[in-house]
Amino acid sequence: MRTIEWNEGIVTTIDQTKLPHEEIILKIRTLNEMAEAIRNMRVRGAPLLGASAAYGLALTAFNSRVTSKEEFIKELKSSAQTLKATRPTAVNLFWALDRILKKIQALNKSFSETKQMVIQEAQKIADEDAKANRAIGKHGAELIDDGDIILTHCNAGALATVEYGTALGVIRAAWEQGKKIQVIATETRPLLQGARLTVYELKRDGIPVKLITDNMAGFIIQKKIINKVVVGADRIVQDAIINKIGTFSLAVIANEFGVPFYVAAPKSTFDLSKESKEIVIEERKREEVTHFGSQPVAVSGVEVYNPAFDITPYKYVSGIIHEDGVFFKKDFRTFRNYNSAR
Ligand code: MRU
Repeated sequence: MRTIEWNEGIVTTIDQTKLPHEEIILKIRTLNEMAEAIRNMRVRGAPLLGASAAYGLALTAFNSRVTSKEEFIKELKSSAQTLKATRPTAVNLFWALDRILKKIQALNKSFSETKQMVIQEAQKIADEDAKANRAIGKHGAELIDDGDIILTHCNAGALATVEYGTALGVIRAAWEQGKKIQVIATETRPLLQGARLTVYELKRDGIPVKLITDNMAGFIIQKKIINKVVVGADRIVQDAIINKIGTFSLAVIANEFGVPFYVAAPKSTFDLSKESKEIVIEERKREEVTHFGSQPVAVSGVEVYNPAFDITPYKYVSGIIHEDGVFFKKDFRTFRNYNSAR
């Protein structure tokens, strides 16, 4: 399943806010439509945010009416600023935009070639992500045993990437190898990416899955109902991995009970020159907490705190699965100098 596609100035993707009950295909034609889709989480998940942002610049290039290369680069930079203002935490979005801007400025090509290059580079970013996820799946599947019951959080599946998924890529690859595994998916309040998206994907593939509410996870780990945790990441920094809110508590509890806790992410998610304290953790609107879907559940006017991500220090992480292999605990010190990553 390819989550996002480019065809002659139209980006096709699925509106993830409507899943699993409605499969609405979005046709995104302008930079502003792409920014809206990212901001309102019609597209989401770190690697898909990277590809979507890249296609946002491709749309600017495709629709551009300016007549000089200088004006075009200005237009592109302003589009990149619009896209950068949508969601602050997943680094893939910033990485993809900076990669395209750097590339066109480094290669001093003609105006029309530069326009073409933006579109080609966006396509390349998407294709590379699809490839990276297959490789993550292959490396990660080696850590999964026949009979494993794996806990996952949020949605790090095909829907969060261009294809196949990161954490769900590992699960998919193990399943495709014939390992009889089962998955336990947390619902992932407040936006229910686990209940709505992870369960949808796994059911489509016929991979056995059970859904739990977030507050059941501690009990399930303590009772050894699961024997591995695999999650994705939005940003991997010098001292921690940053992922969907709730990841940190899962990691601490898994660690307490000796359950391996793996993180699966492509190198486009690595941001190893930064520390976690430098990263903006997105805070989203109050209604996500005071309401369940469109249904109000809290006393109106209550104060709310709604951080979308949390920070898990490396001491709780057993391994980071990426497209070139796995960094285990013993590798973390050298891994921080993994310069080829970006
Ligand atoms: O707020 P979201 O749904 O964009 O958050 C997604 C996650 O936290 C995922 O776990 C992460 O992006 C990895 S996706 C392969």
